[in-house]
Amino acid sequence: MYLLLIIVLALLIYFVFFVSQFYNVFFKGYAPFISTDRETIKTILAASSINPPLLIYELGCGRARFLRIAEKTFPGLKLIGVENLASLYYINWLRLKLSLSKIKLWKKDFLTLNLQDADLIYCYLNNETMRKLGDKFKKECRPGTQIISRSFPIPQFVPEKTIAVKNKKIYFYKI
Ligand SMILES: C[S@@+](CC[C@H](N)C(=O)[O-])C[C@H]1O[C@@H](n2cnc3c(N)ncnc32)[C@H](O)[C@@H]1O
Repeated sequence: MYLLLIIVLALLIYFVFFVSQFYNVFFKGYAPFISTDRETIKTILAASSINPPLLIYELGCGRARFLRIAEKTFPGLKLIGVENLASLYYINWLRLKLSLSKIKLWKKDFLTLNLQDADLIYCYLNNETMRKLGDKFKKECRPGTQIISRSFPIPQFVPEKTIAVKNKKIYFYKI
């Protein structure tokens, strides 16, 4: 009986995830959920300037893998993940609580956030969203803020450097 309940619950969560992801991608133009792999994240962290305490945002954090690896690699960072898909947010929230992580998770559309306190921002999104974020970064981010984008450049900015990891370009910007 309990097993059946767990299976039904898991199917329900998967269904809600699938429908909301479909709606977000096809009707709102949001990036779909695809995770950055661990090796890429470790390479990105090694190539960026991180001296705690910094405030790092992962915009559209999915499973917040970037933040989880950053937390282990550089203790003392302040880390905030922003995700608007409810099913991903709640599963992740539970996982972070159980692992006693200090990462904060916000269930929000990051386009409605003010990013003025960010020291570093990590994104893996899509071209249209990076164009919208480019205007936001221009208005809100302090000089010196680091922005790192996997695969999708910010059209309003010239990158300080780019690297290639596993056939994907990583763009590093400094405001
Ligand atoms: C390509 S995935 C990247 C996940 C994670 N950052 C990583 O690199 O492993 C993009 C994520 O951004 C989320 N997302 C897209 N647009 C968003 C928005 N406007 N506000 C919050 N989350 C958003 C999606 O739901 C998805 O989980």
